[in-house]
Amino acid sequence: MQFDFLVSNMENIYIETYGCQMNFADSEVIAAILTKAGYGVCESVEDADFILINTCAIRDNAEQRVRHRVRELKALQSRRHNLRVGVLGCMAERLQSRLMAEEENVSFVCGPDAYRRLPEMLAQVRRGQKTAEVDLSTTETYADIEPVRLAGNGISAYISIMRGCQNYCAYCVVPYTRGRERSRDPETIVHEARTLFEQGYREVTLLGQNVNSYSSSCDFPELIRQVAEIDSQLRVRFATSHPKDLSDKLLEVMSAHDNICRCIHLPVQSGSNRMLKLMNRKYTVEWYLDRVGTIRRYMPDCSITTDVIAGFSTETHDDHEATLELFRKVRYDYAYMFKYSLREGTYAWKHLADDIPEEEKTRRLNEIISLQGEIALENNKKEVGKEYEVLVEGESHRSKEQLFGRNSQNKVLVFDRGDAVPGTYRTVRVKNVTAATLIGTLVQ
Ligand code: SAH
Ligand code: SF4
Ligand code: F3S
Repeated sequence: MQFDFLVSNMENIYIETYGCQMNFADSEVIAAILTKAGYGVCESVEDADFILINTCAIRDNAEQRVRHRVRELKALQSRRHNLRVGVLGCMAERLQSRLMAEEENVSFVCGPDAYRRLPEMLAQVRRGQKTAEVDLSTTETYADIEPVRLAGNGISAYISIMRGCQNYCAYCVVPYTRGRERSRDPETIVHEARTLFEQGYREVTLLGQNVNSYSSSCDFPELIRQVAEIDSQLRVRFATSHPKDLSDKLLEVMSAHDNICRCIHLPVQSGSNRMLKLMNRKYTVEWYLDRVGTIRRYMPDCSITTDVIAGFSTETHDDHEATLELFRKVRYDYAYMFKYSLREGTYAWKHLADDIPEEEKTRRLNEIISLQGEIALENNKKEVGKEYEVLVEGESHRSKEQLFGRNSQNKVLVFDRGDAVPGTYRTVRVKNVTAATLIGTLVQ
């Protein structure tokens, strides 16, 4: 065998990541593959020989940001002729070699299932050839690759448990950029979590586009039970749950394990049954509210968060009002709120008009944002006086005298540092709140 793609004189890669948590997890797999091939990972573009941009395609503005960044890098490349730029991830998969034609300073394009080929690709690029690898796989899970933790805090880490999605929500590009759903062996997942715990990590987040459809030699409730039982000092989180698949069995396992965090991200997308049907979400508002009720029956202190889209095809004022009404009923602790963005290749692109004017989408989105802001503040006001076990993560951004951490519900608590140390659990009493943060004091 000939390893002509192994690097002898250390060359450096710099990875820049956009998009969801899964992309951040992928960047750690990419770093592992390339360090094994002899590359160094550097922390500044100035030291890099290769800049790898791991991209997102979920909304048009995500792609525009990347294009802007790629063009910005031209200036640096004109000063450093050996600096090469590659585009990876979902936008690479969506646009394939078109991207190299449109952005002439991009020398390689690599889709999410082709990262094992990066060492060869970089070698090719070094020889002056442009290259694209965008084949999707039905089996690749990178299960055997131990991720190199990038810019982490050494306290919490992501673990990718599955890849792909085949739910085909009408608006969504992910099934096209990430391919078929496939699950990673539970043994490799539990091993990775245990190793992290032994290295001092105290929180892992199990990641998939729809973790409730995890299916390997066990199902998701069984997998999370095994991870939770590694040690009671290891917190376990997960994302994302599709409402159609959130089972009572999972809620039972959660309620039996205090270290599985009391926080469920349950993207609703719309509060109107007509919209949900058009979106191909496969549940109704009634089903969704039943799931919310069941979560709260099992775990009254569980926080619930969501994603929502304003201005999907044909959305009427009544549909929009129904979304606001649902927000008032559920009273989310946090929401990611988006304007609908038409994505090429999706069902909606082929069959449904993008017919809500931009100003109207903005108006509806702003209405949801302001309602959610009020709700989050009201929810947080009820936290005053309560005590929470907080996993201390680090210094607060505002002041060196303060630390921050999260409670099980994933709310951020800020407090005077006292004798608290990052990576340990401390009890904090809430004194004051904003819509986004709880401000408290250490309980000795
Ligand atoms: N797998 C997750 C979501 C992944 S994408 C799930 O199904 O819940 C994250 C969020 O982006 C989605 O929940 C949705 O709210 C939003 N989103 C996806 N496609 C979009 C589009 N075309 N326009 C606007 N928002 C979109
Ligand atoms: Fe997209 Fe739907 Fe899959 Fe989530 S479940 S990634 S919204 S297709
Ligand atoms: Fe974006 Fe791909 Fe994640 S499109 S949201 S990076 S799966």
